[in-house]
This record gives sequence, C-alpha cells and structure tokens, in this order.
Amino acid sequence: MPSSPLKCCINPSILSADFVNLASELARISNADAVHVDVMDNDFVPNLTIGLPVVERLQDVSPIPLDAHLMISNVDRWAPQFADAGLSSVTFHVEASDAPIKLARELRARGAKAGMALRPATPVEPYLDMLPELDMLLIMTVEPGFGGQAFLDVMLPKIRRARAAVDGSGVDVAIQVDGGITEETITRAAEAGANVFVAGSAVYGKASPEEAIESLRAKGQLALTPKAPRLNTTAS
Ligand code: DX5
Ligand code: ZN
Repeated sequence: MPSSPLKCCINPSILSADFVNLASELARISNADAVHVDVMDNDFVPNLTIGLPVVERLQDVSPIPLDAHLMISNVDRWAPQFADAGLSSVTFHVEASDAPIKLARELRARGAKAGMALRPATPVEPYLDMLPELDMLLIMTVEPGFGGQAFLDVMLPKIRRARAAVDGSGVDVAIQVDGGITEETITRAAEAGANVFVAGSAVYGKASPEEAIESLRAKGQLALTPKAPRLNTTAS
C-alpha cells in the first residue's frame, strides 16, 4: 500500500445526462473531478452516441476536465484527434487497437493522459508490462455500451490484481472503474483498489447530482483510507 491514501475521483458519465442540454448538464456536476464522455460508434459496441465535433464543443465550454472513453473501432486513427482537441484524458479499448503502446505514446505526445480500457472478459495480465506507458487503466465493470447496468462483482479480483501490479511497480497509474457504480458498489470497488469512479445513473439519476457526487466521494475516500490499527485498551 502507498503511504498516503489514494485520492478518490468521481467522474460522472454524460451518457445519463440530457443530450439536448449538455452545457447545463455540465453545470450540474461542477464539483466533479472530470466529466466522463462516452463515445460509441455502433460497431465496437451496439450503441451510438456522440463524435468528435460534439466532444470538441464540450471541451470548449466545460468548466471541468474531459475524460473521454472511446468505445470505437479504428481507435488508432481516431484517438489522437481527441487528444488534439485538448482533452485531459483519452481512453481507448485495447481490444480495438492494433498498436496500443504506439497509441498511448501518441496520446501523451499530444498532451493528453493516456488511458487504456479492458472489457470485462479481457485479462489484465498480458498488459502489465505496459503500465509505465499509461496514466490510467480502465477496468470495465459492465459490458460497455449502455448505462444503468448492474455492477459485475466478478471483476473485483481483476481490480485487486491490477492494484497490486501498479503498487508493486511504483508507477503512477490511476485505476478507473466504469459501470454500475453506486453508493453500495463504490465501497467494494475502492477496497479492491480502484480510485477513479465513473457514475452515470447514480449521479444524473438523482435530484441533486452535486450531492450524489459528494456522497459517492465520501464513501469511496473512506474505503481508500487505511484503517488505523485498533488500540488494545485491555490492561494486561
Ligand atoms: C457504459 C459506459 C458507462 C456508463 C456508466 O458502456 O461506458 O460510462 O455511462 O453508466 P452507469 O453508471 O449508469 O452504469
Ligand atoms: Zn464509460
């Protein structure tokens, strides 16, 4: 374990926001660490959302950093353009990339943090040597494509193995989880070692997204903070 606790970040997903009012939907999550922008192409996943022109406008107007999650094919060609748009972080799926190391380097060279995502059935072990090339590892906790799905508890061992590898290699790589994060599941995900949490319905589905963010952050941070050893108060 690192000596100081990991910082818990809450990145609400605009997939659960009102797509016709995106600017005002951003204003409802002003206390978030970043906004998670789900880009889907109806090829890599069976759903279609927004593309580069809309993301560029979000980047222009957003008061908080953009964290793009590219669920698209041909990602080696597309992802660098999202980095060129000035996004804080760009995450590609390793299953969609022909050259993930080259792509991660390209994203960093263009000024974005490099994130790499794994579908639920993609093991993390083949990619552990790549950790120094990454700023973030996204472990999907649902099948990508839709919001509002149930958290896959079967992903917890993968999160634990990823955390052990990150801590063991001493690299500064955030572990993001995405899918089914709620006030209930965030504690298990954080205890397993995730420190960046995407939440769509658990934020935008609430009357006050800002309060939902605070509440999720408090629960996540508590789970990330090592417990003080219990003092033995019994006289011997
Ligand atoms: C799913 C997306 C997620 C989605 C999460 O493929 O990548 O970001 O919006 O939504 P919730 O938090 O509702 O599971
Ligand atoms: Zn996502």
